[in-house]
Amino acid sequence: MSVPFHELRVSAVIHETPECASFELAVPKELEEAYRYKAGQHLTFKLSWDDFTVTRCYSLSSCPDLREPLRIGVKRVEGGRISNWLIDNLKAGDSIIASVPEGRFVLDTATRPGAPLFLFAGGSGITPIISLLKSALTVTKRPITLLYANQNRESVIYGEELRQLAAAHSNRLLVHHHFDAEGGYLTPAQVQALLHHTDIAEFYLCGPEPFMELIENTLSEAGVHDELVYIERFVSPADPDRDEVDPVDAASLEAPDTFSLWLNGRSRTVAYLKGKTLLQCAQAAGLQPAHSCESGYCGSCMAHVNSGKVHMRTHEALSERDIARGVALLCQSVPASREPLELDSDSTSFRAASAVKSSYSKRASQLAAVAVFAIMVAGTLVLRLVP
Ligand SMILES: Cc1cc2nc3c(=O)[nH]c(=O)nc-3n(C[C@H](O)[C@H](O)[C@H](O)COP(=O)(O)OP(=O)(O)OC[C@H]3O[C@@H](n4cnc5c(N)ncnc54)[C@H](O)[C@@H]3O)c2cc1C
Ligand code: FES
Repeated sequence: MSVPFHELRVSAVIHETPECASFELAVPKELEEAYRYKAGQHLTFKLSWDDFTVTRCYSLSSCPDLREPLRIGVKRVEGGRISNWLIDNLKAGDSIIASVPEGRFVLDTATRPGAPLFLFAGGSGITPIISLLKSALTVTKRPITLLYANQNRESVIYGEELRQLAAAHSNRLLVHHHFDAEGGYLTPAQVQALLHHTDIAEFYLCGPEPFMELIENTLSEAGVHDELVYIERFVSPADPDRDEVDPVDAASLEAPDTFSLWLNGRSRTVAYLKGKTLLQCAQAAGLQPAHSCESGYCGSCMAHVNSGKVHMRTHEALSERDIARGVALLCQSVPASREPLELDSDSTSFRAASAVKSSYSKRASQLAAVAVFAIMVAGTLVLRLVP
């Protein structure tokens, strides 16, 4: 089943920096339920461009727990069509076609409710990160470290909001800004210096590819378990008229008659329908794994391939490293061998096996949070607040 779209009215436009604007969207009363969301989720927008309709995702920077108006933040991409068009043309009173909120870049409140939280944002990557930050400050007592990297001070988005949050929560929030123009590019040592409790903390990353790679590598070298890392990649889909043809004839691949899918803590057996994607097969069987774009770029339908082989038509939302770790997109995957195929769609972590099977107990993370909090209150953690 496709994700529903509705027309929303732009209620306000805020020019955050010369390169970035926020758009507040008014949700009519009858759609309030449909637009309920979790911090870290995004909306997909449909826009007419030349002769076709293009789609773009934008993360919500508002916080559902504070009942803030629905807000997205759009940053200009050099040569980018929609980001520049939105910033230059979309104004209060205009209408825009937006999907209901989707995405799995959300807080795991069940498994590790008290674990320290590390948020890493680069440039426009702050949009879902600030939503996660506000939510975690509102509904949890978790100690939080935010590292926000930008080219220079002028490109900081939501700078004043971050300053106010840091001041209001100085006992458990450390905000560390990094400016390439002042100290060169971020280094692994600078990231490493912020880390603590890496065995139980959770890590959320969103930003440009080189930034993400640096953080991912540093976390990996620090021994952080994949299961604790959540990643959101900002990519555009291929234009409808430029959709690359899959060189592999998916229908000709060997396939088992059924496959297993872990969903909501249960393993389900799904009939494989020749020529259909695993997402379509699951939907035909009456299941609803998370999904949004159905085009391979939003990452909402990620699943871990526990056994067997799949072929993906496209996989913009994944890095080569993710693929090597066994992550697949259900909306782009077909079986690629007769081997029994099992996938796990339960995890909210980008690269992880099921959170249900987590070895990190709720109790352990709560104890750790108490310990970290005590250390912070005792003042042994020096808060550095820039600018
Ligand atoms: C889940 C998700 C959440 C996101 N959240 C945000 C967010 O909160 N804020 C945000 O700013 N962005 C976000 N993005 C990114 C956003 O969706 C767009 O990808 C971004 O705004 C660029 O879109 P664009 O149309 O401006 O650029 P595009 O036109 O798609 O261009 C992208 C790049 O391709 C080049 N290009 C343009 N046209 C062509 C062409 N015809 N052939 C080849 N190359 C071309 C451009 O020069 C540019 O470098 C998110 C993406 C995802 C998947
Ligand atoms: S639904 Fe977006 S990548 Fe599969």
